[in-house]
Amino acid sequence: MSTNTPAPLRAYDLTGRVAVVTGAASGIGRRSSEFLAAAGARVVLGDVDADGLRETSERVNVHGRSVAEITDVTDRAAVEALIRRATEEYGRLDVLCNVAGAMSPGMIEEITDQQLEDALALNLRSVVWGCRAAIPAMKRNERGGSIINVSSGAIDAPVAGIGLYALAKAAVAMLTKTLAVEVGPYKIRVNALAPGATLTKFTTWRLQRADGTLDREAYDAFVERMKERSPLGEIGEAEDQAHLVLHLASDAARWTTGAILRANGGQTFAW
Ligand SMILES: NC(=O)c1ccc[n+]([C@@H]2O[C@H](COP(=O)([O-])OP(=O)(O)OC[C@H]3O[C@@H](n4cnc5c(N)ncnc54)[C@H](O)[C@@H]3O)[C@@H](O)[C@H]2O)c1
Repeated sequence: MSTNTPAPLRAYDLTGRVAVVTGAASGIGRRSSEFLAAAGARVVLGDVDADGLRETSERVNVHGRSVAEITDVTDRAAVEALIRRATEEYGRLDVLCNVAGAMSPGMIEEITDQQLEDALALNLRSVVWGCRAAIPAMKRNERGGSIINVSSGAIDAPVAGIGLYALAKAAVAMLTKTLAVEVGPYKIRVNALAPGATLTKFTTWRLQRADGTLDREAYDAFVERMKERSPLGEIGEAEDQAHLVLHLASDAARWTTGAILRANGGQTFAW
C-alpha cells in the first residue's frame, strides 16, 4: 500500500503517450480525441468523414499534436495503416480507441445477407482488426497499453429492429473480455464502453424524413423518451463517454481490464 502524499490527478497525465482513435470525426470519438490530447497524448485520428476529421483536428490541435488519416474501418488494410501511422509518426502506440460504428437496423427475419455482412464489417470485424494490429506495437512498451472498444447499452436488453447491431456489439463485449485475458501478461488492458442513449449524429438514425432531413418533432419525442428511461431524467452527451475513455486510457485504470463500463444514466433498468 502506498503511503506517499496522494496526487490522484497525476495518473491522468498522458504526456508522452500516443493514441489512435477511430470514428474521430464526430460524437464520442471526437470528444474522446480532444480529452486525450488535453491530457497530453498525441492522437492519430481516423474516420471516413474528411470534413469532420478536419474539424476534429482543429479542435485537438488546440491542446497538442495530431495527425488525421481518412480511414474506412471496414477495410482491413486501412485499419492496419492507421495503426502503423502511430508508430511511423510518433514512434509508439499506447492507446487504441475503436469508436467507429453505426446502427444496422432491421428485423432479423427481413435482413439480407448484405446487411448482415455490412453490420459485422463495421461494428465487429473492424474492432477485431484494430485490436489485432495494435497488440504487437503495445507489446513493445514496458508498461503495455490500453485498448478501449465501444460496445453499446443495446447488449443489455433485446429491442426489436436493432438485433443485428446488438449482436455485433455483444460480440465486441466478449472480444474485449477474451482479449483482456490473452494480452494481460503484456500489461495490455482491454476494456469497453456500453453507452446509453448519447446525443450525437448517431441519435438521428431513425428520425429522418424520406428526403433525409431531420424530423424535429420525432427527434424531440425520442430525446424525451430516452430522458424518461433514466432515473436521472437526462440523456447522455459525448463528453460522458469521453471521461470514461480518458480514465481507461490513463494509469488511473491500471487495475481495470476486461470491464464493460456503462455510462447510461441507469436507462437499462427501465428496459
Ligand atoms: N450515441 C449513442 O447513443 C450510442 C449508444 C451506444 C453506442 N454507441 C456507439 O458509439 C460509437 C460512436 O458513435 P457516436 O454516438 O459518436 O456516433 P457518430 O455518428 O457521431 O460518430 C460515429 C463516427 O463513426 C464514423 N464511421 C462510420 N462508419 C465508418 C467507417 N466505415 N469507417 C470509419 N469511420 C466510420 C462516422 O463517420 C462518425 O464520425 C459507435 O460505435 C456507436 O455504435 C453510440
